[in-house]
Amino acid sequence: MAFDLDETNAAAYLSSRGLVDPDSVEKVELLGWGVSNVLVKVQTRGDCMVIKQSLARLRVTEDWFADRERIYRECACIETLSTILPTGALPEVRYQDQDNYLFVMSCAPEEGVNWKEQLLAGQVDETVAGKVGAALGAIHRETTGSSAVRERFLNDQVFIQLRIEPYHWTTAKVHPDLAQVIQREAARMLEVKTALVHGDFSPKNIIVTGQDVFLLDFEVVHYGNPVFDLAFMLNHLMLKSVHNAGIRNMYFHAARSFWQGYQEQAGLDVQTAAQRERDTIKQTGCLMLARIDGKSPAEYIVDPAVKESVRSIARDILLGDYAKLDDMMALVDGKLSRSPVSQSPVSGEAPVQG
Ligand SMILES: Nc1ncnc2c1ncn2[C@@H]1O[C@H](COP(=O)(O)OP(=O)(O)O)[C@@H](O)[C@H]1O
Ligand SMILES: [Mg+2]
Repeated sequence: MAFDLDETNAAAYLSSRGLVDPDSVEKVELLGWGVSNVLVKVQTRGDCMVIKQSLARLRVTEDWFADRERIYRECACIETLSTILPTGALPEVRYQDQDNYLFVMSCAPEEGVNWKEQLLAGQVDETVAGKVGAALGAIHRETTGSSAVRERFLNDQVFIQLRIEPYHWTTAKVHPDLAQVIQREAARMLEVKTALVHGDFSPKNIIVTGQDVFLLDFEVVHYGNPVFDLAFMLNHLMLKSVHNAGIRNMYFHAARSFWQGYQEQAGLDVQTAAQRERDTIKQTGCLMLARIDGKSPAEYIVDPAVKESVRSIARDILLGDYAKLDDMMALVDGKLSRSPVSQSPVSGEAPVQG
């Protein structure tokens, strides 16, 4: 019989599998942010676990389906990354239940804060951004050219279902004049198979404790084009700079620091690094437009004038030739300076979702 995880049955589930003593359970909490999974945190005396179960249908307004088996790839990814990243940077898998599409993991540090929340509240720490970049650089470096990792994660169905279709293909339909370039960049994400790609490398999936980072959420992982992860993170930082335009320089500094942290770890030769930068900027243009007109719009960008600014930045990137991150940020800066809405207040109020 199908088991549908929720906060009322989580503790009993863990106890039925011998993972907790029911008398030691102190707190059970539904982690409310997931759109594609149910997550329940169970704290006991002396331990803490999160159960994650994949949903067949995502909780977004537009219909959007994805294979439930993605949850097992997430476990496999944590296993792979635990040989690359330092202890304490990842959850530990405690238990897998193949029949019920769920797994149990250790909790992030109790005092940890979601990086997206910090960034939206105007708390922008460059050192943290550098460490986030360094972690990604290490993942890409260590998995580049690995046939074992390639074989394990070659299936990119979930990446197509959760990223390429709702972001690129949907946006290309909304903007026929940009469709060709968006389709070309989407194809580049699918054809290049170089390294392990997280696929959801965004601030909301990073927990910050002091200046240490803890990575989460590996359900879109696949062997593919590392440019995607770089662009995904930079797009988040650029959109936050548009949203909190009064402190946009802080997000630009964070973006530079992220990029530098990445370069220091990624071990790329000069030519590859230059090409990666150029490709990342182009991909950032696709993702920017997708967060306005795709299936998963950024929930904190609501003002029609701000949306127009983002569309205009994305259009320039997609139709232009930007080789350096600094040039892209100068473009963002220039558009915001001309925009009448460039002084939007710092807000920590926006719901944390995308
Ligand atoms: N192991 C964990 N420890 C603490 N919090 C967690 C853990 N796993 C997930 N969370 C929290 O739940 C949120 C949603 O989890 P995530 O794995 O990102 O699922 P989804 O794929 O639905 O976004 C995360 O942003 C994080 O705040
Ligand atoms: Mg997540």
